[in-house]
Amino acid sequence: MNEKTTLPGAGRRRFLQAAGLTLAAAGAGLTQARAGQPDPAITEVQDWARYLGDGVAVRAYGKPSEFEKHVIRRDVEWLTASRESSVSFTPLHELDGIITPNGLCFERHHAGIAEIDPSKHRLMVNGLVQKPLVFTMDDIRRFPRENRVYFLECAANSGMEWRGAQLNGCQFTHGMIHNVMYTGVPLKYILEEAGLKTNAKWIMPEGADASAMTRSIPIEKAMQDCLIAFAMNGEALRPEQGYPLRIVVPGWEGNMWVKWLRRIEVGDEPWHTREETSKYTDLLTDGRSRRFTWIMDAKSVVTNPSPQAPLKFKGHNVISGLAWSGRGTIKRVDVSLDGGRNWTTARIDGPVLPMSATRFYLDFEWRGEELMIQSRAMDETGYVQPTKDELRKVRGVNSIYHNNGIQTWLVRANGETENVEVS
Ligand code: MTE
Ligand code: CO
Repeated sequence: MNEKTTLPGAGRRRFLQAAGLTLAAAGAGLTQARAGQPDPAITEVQDWARYLGDGVAVRAYGKPSEFEKHVIRRDVEWLTASRESSVSFTPLHELDGIITPNGLCFERHHAGIAEIDPSKHRLMVNGLVQKPLVFTMDDIRRFPRENRVYFLECAANSGMEWRGAQLNGCQFTHGMIHNVMYTGVPLKYILEEAGLKTNAKWIMPEGADASAMTRSIPIEKAMQDCLIAFAMNGEALRPEQGYPLRIVVPGWEGNMWVKWLRRIEVGDEPWHTREETSKYTDLLTDGRSRRFTWIMDAKSVVTNPSPQAPLKFKGHNVISGLAWSGRGTIKRVDVSLDGGRNWTTARIDGPVLPMSATRFYLDFEWRGEELMIQSRAMDETGYVQPTKDELRKVRGVNSIYHNNGIQTWLVRANGETENVEVS
């Protein structure tokens, strides 16, 4: 490492000390220049320094470097019978910080992507209101709008893991989540414009896609923090995420976040739609089902290392992961390297926002021993993420939804990493 080209010596040492490292420790695990062998990456003039590159606006809408082309949403073919009613997963192990780039947000469609012409899109509000209303997209943009960062987690995230470790990669075990900054109008304003009748207790958002997705949401939640969103991460919603309009239901299961939103009905009781009867209920061991399990409990996952991103170096390494809770902010994340016997509190970095993903790190030295890496999230209510066994004791193994148990990654001596369970 050439100190002249980075930070001045003294300043750099201060930085490393602040990060809790010594120069020797930081250097120990990093790739060293091989003595006596010239490095062509330094000694040869590369093409990108020899020729002019593309001019401005050649790439009118930018996309990632071609060297990042492996960073994509992926599906698991055997999971579903067709791609139109299926899921693709966010490549969590390739991302950092807390925001999911728009093109990498996992998708869950029940009838494929509706490609909607916004000039022909309407939002209707009907039912127990003083005056039923129909809004154009322009009408909606004239209401006061807000910007908020939230995670959306499908209730079925980690659903394939109830009966034991199955899928090898956090993309597949935990990738039915994305975390985006939404711009939208508080639903409260829309409902107030229509005027709620005194017996209005529930709303039912409905999608304009061929599945006409419908869910019942209590009026308190609708009035408290739901948004009618038209933008994500600063630009229009992507078609995959419900362009031109979706409802945002902070902290609650993804299924309720109806995309391609075309109608909101107001009623005095829930509608008991397919998505809240035969689906999105949790079958218990005694044959009864938990229903209306809306809130996504605190959960976390180590994204690096993980099966698609093995450990490459002995010495200094960064463990990284995400934690989130549908009940508010993440207060603490602990990481274990030995399958849950000993825990170290991880370092949280970046914004800590309610019902948003939160990034954590653990800087550690790897000597090549086998590791069983776990993370455990705690939220502001004091709720602690349970182990998978603790969860099964109360829920059994018939469930698909709401698996927020602690994930274990086995790191072998060669760095290869595998999805396992400890009991
Ligand atoms: N809304 C409509 N109209 N159609 C759908 O198929 N899928 C739901 C929900 N909203 C769905 C929908 C499910 S199950 C989930 S998990 C989320 O959208 C997925 O949102 P995403 O595709 O932005 O990840
Ligand atoms: Co879902």
